[in-house]
Amino acid sequence: MNNPTAITGFDLADFFSAAEARNDRWRSLHRVARALSDRPTDKLRTEAAALLAELGPLEELQGYPGPRLMTLLRQREQSADWSGFARLVQRISAALLADSYQEDSKAWHEDDEGEAYLPDALPPALSHSAGRKPYFEALLVTPAERNAWPELRNQLRRLRREQDEFIYEPVMVGSFEDALLATILNANVQSVVIQEGFPFASQYSLPVAREHLARHTKIDTAELAGCDSGLILARAIRNIRPELDVYLVTDRAAEVVAGLEAAACVRRVFYAVEEPLEVHLSVLDGVAARYRTPYFDNLKHYAQRPIGTFHALPVARGKSIFKSNWIRDVGEFYGATLFLAESSATTGGLDSLLEPTGNLKHAQEAAARAFGGDHCFFVTNGTSTSNKIIHQAVVRPGDIVLIDRDCHKSHHYGLVLAGGQPYYIDAFPLAEYSMYGSLAIRPIKEALLKLKAEGKLDKVRMVVLTNCTFDGHVANVKRTMEECLAIKPDLIFLWDEAWFGYARFSPYLRRRTAMGAAAALREQFANPAYRERYQKFKAATGNLNPKNAKLLDLHLLPDPDKVRVRVYESNSVHKSMSCLRQGSVVVVADQDFSTVEEAFHEAFFTHTSTSPNLQILATLDTARRQMELEGYGLVNRALQLAIELRREVNTHPLISKYFKTLTPAEMIPAKYRQSGYSDYSPGSWAKAVEALDHDEFFLDPTRVTLLCGRAGYDGTEFKGILAAEHDIQINKTSRNSVLVQININNTRSDLAHIIKALAEMARAIDRRLANGGKSARTAFDARVKSLMEDVPDLPNFSKFHDAFRDQAKSATPEGHMRDAYYLAYDAANCEHVKLASKEVDQRLAHGPELVSANFVIPYPPGFPIMVPGQVITKEIITFMRKLDVKEIHGYDAALGLKLLKPSALKKRKAR
Ligand SMILES: Cc1ncc(COP(=O)(O)O)c(C=O)c1O
Repeated sequence: MNNPTAITGFDLADFFSAAEARNDRWRSLHRVARALSDRPTDKLRTEAAALLAELGPLEELQGYPGPRLMTLLRQREQSADWSGFARLVQRISAALLADSYQEDSKAWHEDDEGEAYLPDALPPALSHSAGRKPYFEALLVTPAERNAWPELRNQLRRLRREQDEFIYEPVMVGSFEDALLATILNANVQSVVIQEGFPFASQYSLPVAREHLARHTKIDTAELAGCDSGLILARAIRNIRPELDVYLVTDRAAEVVAGLEAAACVRRVFYAVEEPLEVHLSVLDGVAARYRTPYFDNLKHYAQRPIGTFHALPVARGKSIFKSNWIRDVGEFYGATLFLAESSATTGGLDSLLEPTGNLKHAQEAAARAFGGDHCFFVTNGTSTSNKIIHQAVVRPGDIVLIDRDCHKSHHYGLVLAGGQPYYIDAFPLAEYSMYGSLAIRPIKEALLKLKAEGKLDKVRMVVLTNCTFDGHVANVKRTMEECLAIKPDLIFLWDEAWFGYARFSPYLRRRTAMGAAAALREQFANPAYRERYQKFKAATGNLNPKNAKLLDLHLLPDPDKVRVRVYESNSVHKSMSCLRQGSVVVVADQDFSTVEEAFHEAFFTHTSTSPNLQILATLDTARRQMELEGYGLVNRALQLAIELRREVNTHPLISKYFKTLTPAEMIPAKYRQSGYSDYSPGSWAKAVEALDHDEFFLDPTRVTLLCGRAGYDGTEFKGILAAEHDIQINKTSRNSVLVQININNTRSDLAHIIKALAEMARAIDRRLANGGKSARTAFDARVKSLMEDVPDLPNFSKFHDAFRDQAKSATPEGHMRDAYYLAYDAANCEHVKLASKEVDQRLAHGPELVSANFVIPYPPGFPIMVPGQVITKEIITFMRKLDVKEIHGYDAALGLKLLKPSALKKRKAR
């Protein structure tokens, strides 16, 4: 944005900017066309021809403007009808920019004033008066000659009926390559109809696009020579966008093809084109299946009915509000619908969250499909509750749970409730920025091997990991599970994907999600080639002797005959999708779910309100609908905006003097970036794909850590200034940074908003330093140094006090945290010691040990620096003393540290 002309310089091969790049080319063409209609010159003519040549093949993959308007455009160009050319370009680019072609039939006309010359070539039901029908595009992959396409397209259009719920425009392609490109580049595509017999290579000269395809999609061209190329294409399309409906039209024995394993990814198989109407109806039906929101649809219906309520919820129907003298404004503010759609009943068409049997059950099944699990459970009290449900469901008292100490507090509390023994492992620190990174595979393996050596593997139940972390560290989920399962084949995984739900809808990030990886592992373990690989691995490594240090350097492989894929994902739908606050889901892909199903329901009952909020449930349902129908395009745009924001801050001559967005290289140590991927620079996406495939950690582009320490602000202060002076809200801060999160709701205008704020602040600092003389500069430099260099070391987890450990001499550090937690319930067992007191230093030096009675969680950084039963070390005290944050949960400065008394610990030890 600091160089406006660079906007046209988007690299088409840069995946996320492809849609934007297309719009930009139209905008450029618009500028050139206007200039041409004013005063044509050879230069302008050449520019227009070049832009049209570039756009031509791309537009073949899109429904709008479509071949008819494109042909007309070319005719006007050839006949030098520049005013007609400019009018048409203006109409098309405006319609594309506002997406108005999806509901305004005028966008499909040839001229403003005139009617369409070919009425049958327009989507007839697109108009405001006809009522809005959602618009989409259906991709038709056909071996037919190109000159037969217009007729095929019209045949499909003629099948449209008044009663159709949606309207779609066919997009025709004639090859495997073009079909994949359309799938990637055209977010409007919802259905794909594949007619067998098409060639592989694109018919157009699309060097950029072809390169893009080769880099981003692995296709085995040898396999394609066979007669199943239609099914191979279907699989490739579903790999990229699993939500799409794919139909196969074959002239082989359709009933045989339909029964093939490879046809599982196809929604229906048709014999030749014997039933075009059936194909048309199936296309509509497939989209309707995703569009249907069983719970929300029913709630809308319920709200329309004149229901008498005789249960406890006065706001239901809103009468107590709308008739009130004093709170009528509440009704006016929220509108009648909210109250008409409220009820505490679970009968009369409204299902029950605690025992779903109807529309809520169906809504959860649809969510399981969308999020890629076997089961999905709606939760109306945030992922904090989802996590506790999972802990209670699978962890039995005394079980050992390997957990990243930096995990959200709901996990620590979940373990207290479930009685599991946490085996805390520390994430790698990013001390300069006063935050933790994420938990690497090696320390997890190390822990499991230690537990094996101690003979405790049987007690190990689960591994809890955050993916991605608040700050954007994305784990190599598949490899983590693979290596852990090699040591303990029935290990359960809880992936906290509170922030990462949207990743399911990106073909790149999906592989790094719990469900994406679980599916990949299931497929891998069922593959005979894996069995062979495993046999070789086993021959070389034997029974994985835990004393063998080399195991830490090997990529361990699980035994396909023993391994069980048991994966739970918690996902704050409200954090990354269009859902009301607290809407969360638990997604399950557990081969042995039947063994914990009852316990899961008990846990669900324990934590679920008997009065769940219906609007949260409804928006969980509609968020799923949105993601299945437009998540792909929305997520691409969010990623692109985030990458743009990063680049803009770091290259802006003024802003970059004081602010910086941290790059993958700064957020992830080199040893975890095996590919060497370091930044989202233009044209680097191919490298990013390599990083996604192989690196231990990847940085989620949408989580932008903005360093403000170099501008002399600490995170909390900076957050306050952004809110008070620039109307910008952010959430997480560290000592010298804030986290800017980009999601599917953000726009380019939002980027402009924050960039303008940063530019103003940078300008103000410049001015202050220029006018303030030497003293201002000295004070500024000292402040920056304090924020950027004098950062306290983050304290690692120390250990549980021996009173809470089964064997004091054990080489593994797990402990009975719940016992410590409840020991503190008796005030006689606790004491308070002031943080700054001499007693603290004396006890650190000479004992008795300081043992925390509770969780102490400072914000930031937001993880427990003390847990119940933990021995407090000098590092922890130093960190606490240096900490200058105001919000520390579990610590009251007036009272001091809450400790378990040595006498109470002694008594417990002697039990
Ligand atoms: C990693 C992680 N897990 C879980 C949660 C809790 O999610 P919710 O706010 O939906 O309860 C958070 C909240 O910030 C989080 O950061």
